[in-house]
Amino acid sequence: MTRTLPSHWYHDASIHNQEKDKIFKQAWWPVGPERALVAAGAYCALKLFGHPLLLVRGRDQTLRAFHNVCRHRASPLLQEGTGTCGAIRCPYHGWLYGLDGKLQKAPLFGDDDGFDPNEHGLLPVRVENWRGLVFVCLSEISPDLLSWLGSVDTLCAPFPGPEDLELYKSFEIQGSANWKAYCDNTLEGYHLNLVHPRLAQALAKGSVEIKSYDEGRVVAFHVNYGGQSEGARLRGNEGVWVYRFPGFQLTASANVFKGERIEPAAPNRLRSMNWLWYQGISEEQVEDACAWSELVVHEDLGACEGVQANLEAGVYTDGPLSPLQETHVARFQELVRRALGA
Ligand code: FES
Ligand SMILES: [Fe+2]
Repeated sequence: MTRTLPSHWYHDASIHNQEKDKIFKQAWWPVGPERALVAAGAYCALKLFGHPLLLVRGRDQTLRAFHNVCRHRASPLLQEGTGTCGAIRCPYHGWLYGLDGKLQKAPLFGDDDGFDPNEHGLLPVRVENWRGLVFVCLSEISPDLLSWLGSVDTLCAPFPGPEDLELYKSFEIQGSANWKAYCDNTLEGYHLNLVHPRLAQALAKGSVEIKSYDEGRVVAFHVNYGGQSEGARLRGNEGVWVYRFPGFQLTASANVFKGERIEPAAPNRLRSMNWLWYQGISEEQVEDACAWSELVVHEDLGACEGVQANLEAGVYTDGPLSPLQETHVARFQELVRRALGA
């Protein structure tokens, strides 16, 4: 019988720090649609599990990512959010960087033979695009994005993606739960009927088939919304819900593509960033479909927050995982254990 991870793994700061180095920093993370960053100077500044990053489109049309950290005395350069700039000026002492990250000017710095501006450009971060969704990775040795995504690409191939559709909406939900509680939840359909009544009703009976790929790093729910149901009307007949360890998941079908970043913000906090694309349904239906998507995230998060509070309360240490319903949860937890060398 497989048991869950010990409860303290869901709130212990030292576990979180180990995960940061061994799991989060090795992964690719979606940061948003490429089309939002088309014009030269278009930028987006964000924090990714505490790391301040910025993405900016160069005059040469190359999209680059950097640490949002001035090379002088480490001030943040751009405020979190999106915008357009001609160059990147540090708000502290005014160092000026080009859109390519090169240091152009260190005003009033004075002469110092030991100071080479060429050695003080912004520190780069890897950035790649998959089907119109931009990803970043903090590791220099992780595989390229397409290899890292593995089966995700094939699983989504039959469906339209961000590059084919107009972004309809993005939304962010923060919750008081460890990222693993949310992933545990994502990887089983056991809770579907009780937690997501509307979704459960929209699925054809017995139509959910969960399969694992790439040694458990990718898990896909193959779903059928079934003929005349609301799900079929809004999303299309068949679809996939795909999870890629540790923090990327998506929903794809004929009418919808939804990307989600499950971001571990702190040992007991997570941030769910969502981007939704729709096609082939009316404006009114899109509104409804988006509200429904938000509802599902709230429903999941609500369940996870309840679990989190109890994991921290100290009564529960671990529990049994169902051999019928939770084999993918067990695989996920094994990936975490292995990454931490436990
Ligand atoms: S910290 Fe950026 S110019 Fe001083
Ligand atoms: Fe769920």
